[in-house]
Amino acid sequence: MTTAVIPAPESGTEDLSVWPASTARHVHGGLTVGGVELAEVAERFGTPVYVLDEGEVRERCRTYRDAFPEAEVLYAAKAFLSRAMVRWVQEEGLGLDVCSAGELELAVAAGFPPERIVLHGNAKSPYDLESAMRLGVGRIVIDSPSEIARIAAAIGPDGRQKVMVRVVPGISAGGHDKIRTGTDGQKFGLSVTDGSAQHAVARILAQPRLELTGLHCHIGSQITEVKPYLTALRRMVGLMARIRDAHGRVLPELDMGGGHGIAYRPGDAALDVTALARRLRSELAVSCSAAGMPVPRLAVEPGRAVVGPAGVALYRILAVKHTGDTLFVAVDGGMSDNPRPALYGARYAPRLIGRAPAAAPRTATVVGRHCEAGDVLAAGVELPGDVRPGDVIAVPVSGAYQLSMASGYNMVGRPPVVAVHEGGARLLVRRETLEDLRRRDIGA
Ligand code: LLP
Repeated sequence: MTTAVIPAPESGTEDLSVWPASTARHVHGGLTVGGVELAEVAERFGTPVYVLDEGEVRERCRTYRDAFPEAEVLYAAKAFLSRAMVRWVQEEGLGLDVCSAGELELAVAAGFPPERIVLHGNAKSPYDLESAMRLGVGRIVIDSPSEIARIAAAIGPDGRQKVMVRVVPGISAGGHDKIRTGTDGQKFGLSVTDGSAQHAVARILAQPRLELTGLHCHIGSQITEVKPYLTALRRMVGLMARIRDAHGRVLPELDMGGGHGIAYRPGDAALDVTALARRLRSELAVSCSAAGMPVPRLAVEPGRAVVGPAGVALYRILAVKHTGDTLFVAVDGGMSDNPRPALYGARYAPRLIGRAPAAAPRTATVVGRHCEAGDVLAAGVELPGDVRPGDVIAVPVSGAYQLSMASGYNMVGRPPVVAVHEGGARLLVRRETLEDLRRRDIGA
């Protein structure tokens, strides 16, 4: 699903494979996405600006629905959430995975059916749980023993709440240490190795107000191989069989989490979602039959793979300078709208848009405007040798975990989000203004 169908380039062999499928070259070095010229978006809405291709998001949701027809596909809202995103995901038939009252309330206020929402979180606040109960969230995924009594106590006298248990299956996978969550020694989930997962299951089964529907695991993020998922699945089925043996309960659901890796630059590896679906399905059938168990309903929770490749960040160049051997190209955003390079060493492939280059490419380092040397958006990338202040550069694959992790550093304000679709551009989230920032500061 990560291989975009790109119209033939006018000339040259530019690789647009990581761009949205709707991307087309335009005259004088321009690019259109969703039928809208990116330079025009920069002009009309200002920079930095995040562009989201609605068609690409919808198409990615459909790819998941087609690949997993009998499974539940829950979009992981932490990757990016807005009211429009909620609507697209709902219209395409996906459920939702949220991890805070904030995400939950936004989704329900935008009309998403609460029963199709799953609430996660390793440290759910009283407000998270209150909001989940009030709105009638479908399932709550229990991540620590203390939550069992807290959730049971929060349920009304006649109420019942569906829950799952987050299990650590002991698998190391993921694009960076900070996003590997499948092994003991990190903060998420309950371990199978030390028996805390089994212990939590026994306690939940003893709570009449809690209905245990199944087990959950999320082994990590930006995983590009199918294999770790298959190993995790076998272990999860093994645990389900042991629960059946110990308690006589056959759990009807198995949620394998998200983490499906995407290509950020041409040539990067990406997870093949269709292959993942096929192999999970057959592994599930084999493991369940070996354990003499009925096949549980599978769930997956992709975030990045739904929205990442649908987003393009546009920045305007503010300064160009040579320092030693390095050409620094400084733009009007940076680590406050995209902390991923600084956090995970993430690599991107920016491109000049809006005019034809008049010089051969040269190696440059794209940096942000923030007050630290680590504010580097893309090191060692090729840009035209004549890049200059005022030019606009576009960074593809910017739809996931950029704006959702944006900060208020240096009080520059968070960028807006503009949807492009069938030749039209519309504002989804407005720019955070200095007035917004000032209004929160109420002390004397
Ligand atoms: N389900 C659970 C329980 C999760 O914790 C996550 C992500 C997902 C699903 C979705 O994972 P995805 O399919 O998007 O990889 N900020 C990092 C990624 C952190 C992922 C956190 N959990 C990044 O920018 O790479």
